[in-house]
This record gives sequence, structure tokens and C-alpha cells, in this order.
Amino acid sequence: MGAQLIDGKLISTQIKDELKEKTDKLVAEGKRVPTLAVILVGADPASQVYVRNKKKACEYIGYKSLSYELDEHITQDELLELIDKLNKDEEVDGILVQMPVPKHIDDKAVIEAIDPGKDVDGFHPMNVGALCTGEKGFVSCTPAGIIQLLKRSNVDISGKECVIVGRSNIVGKPMMMLMLRENATVTVTHSRTKDIAEVCKRADILIVAIGKARFVTKDFVKEGAVVIDVGINRNAETGKLCGDVAFDEVSEIASMITPVPGGVGPMTIAMLMNNCFEAYEMHEANR
Ligand code: GUN
Repeated sequence: MGAQLIDGKLISTQIKDELKEKTDKLVAEGKRVPTLAVILVGADPASQVYVRNKKKACEYIGYKSLSYELDEHITQDELLELIDKLNKDEEVDGILVQMPVPKHIDDKAVIEAIDPGKDVDGFHPMNVGALCTGEKGFVSCTPAGIIQLLKRSNVDISGKECVIVGRSNIVGKPMMMLMLRENATVTVTHSRTKDIAEVCKRADILIVAIGKARFVTKDFVKEGAVVIDVGINRNAETGKLCGDVAFDEVSEIASMITPVPGGVGPMTIAMLMNNCFEAYEMHEANR
């Protein structure tokens, strides 16, 4: 393999350790610590794992976490009431509702109910709008994590050709805005893009978030490109995780590449923890 591995596990641990150090300092000064409220509706096994990992990250850093595990039949009004209570609670800095919620609940109504100043996922339209206009606000954790991966691996972004594969609200679109903010020339490709391999081949930095195992093969990648794989796909036969990039062949021609697992995945939680600290600082400054 020719490419250098971008180690998301290591970089995410560095970020969590930086936050732990700041939190330890708060404790030593007898101050309140950042508090994250995590809401899970229903018992989806993947969501349970994500929620458990978020609570574990809080424990590791020293944040307080409040956990609400709600029956899948809870009404939308009951969920909105809980969010309202947490919005008003001055001890709570961040509120996160694990997605997806059951079908009878309108996820848009849930996201819009969260106080934008506590929306550590960066999903609220106020935060999405702030990202577009370059104002302060919370940024969706996975794209924010990718920027950290690139910066902490000394990848120059300014002036580079960046191609993003996938246009979701939580990865592709905010990724586009963040790369633009870093002065990249950005192209977003998707399922209707003609000659997607040709477009991807222009990229100095290729970011793939399309949710299809091994979608990006070596024919999509320019020699020496930096390849970021956001995919998490489970192989039905082997049970092993694999990304949206055919790692074995692409790592032969890329200059740097993220593995799956251990690349982008751990960064999402690290950035969530970072957003919680920012929320805390904002709330303390406004007291
Ligand atoms: N489900 C999948 N990814 C996410 C995420 O980043 N935040 C929340 N709240 N739910 C998710």
C-alpha cells in the first residue's frame, strides 16, 4: 500500500484528551462541568451502540451526561415536552436526539424544537444557516471531524480541488460549506451525476459519503489524492465493516487515506464533545 493512513482513532483521542484537560481544570476550580442530554427513542440496536459510545465519551472527558431512553410508542408531544424542559434547564448545555426517530414522530419538528444554542449536532436550521453565511454556530459533527482530520494531518486545503460524493444534510452539504470556507474549489456529486468517476478523478481531496460499499474504485482516484471515506457498511456475509471506498486498490494510488473502521467514525463523537464544550462556554459567558 502506498498511501499514508489517516488515523482517526488517534486524532479523536487527542481531541478528547484536550477536552479532558480543560474539563479537569474546571473541576479543580470547583466549577460546573459541561452537561449533555442524550435522548434515544425506541430500541434500534445501532442507535443503542451510538448512544452508549456518546455516554462513554462524556465519562472519559468528565462531562455530566443525562440519558433519556424512551419507549418507541412515546407521542411526539411527550418528546417535545421533554426537549422543552431540557431547553429551559440551565444545567444542560447540549441536547441530542439520536436519529432516526420512529416513523410516527416528525424528525424535522424534533430538530426545530431544540434550542439552537444547545443543538450540539448542528442540525437546527439556524445553525445550518449560520454555516452558510459564515456566522458562528454549531457545525454537524462528521464534516467538522473531517476538517480536523485534514488539518491535523497537515493537508493543505486552500486552492485545492475537492470533490464530495453524496449530498446528505448531515454530511455532503455541510462538508461543501466547510471546504468552501477553507478556500477549496468544491464539486458535489450524487446519484444523478454523469461520469461520476471522471469528476472524482479531478479531486486533490476526495470525500465519499454515499452509503454504498466499495463504490469508489481506483478508476475514481487521481494519483496522489487524499481520500476520506465516510461510509460505514456491514458486509452481510462476513459481518465486517467496510467503507464506500475500495480500500485495497485505492490505497495503492492515494497519498493519504482514512481506514474503515478507525478513520472518520471516531471523529464524529470527538467533535460532538467539542461542540458540547463550546455550548458550555457560551452558556457560562451569558450567565
Ligand atoms: N444518527 C446518525 N448520525 C447521527 C448524528 O450525528 N446525530 C444524531 N443525533 N443522530 C444520528
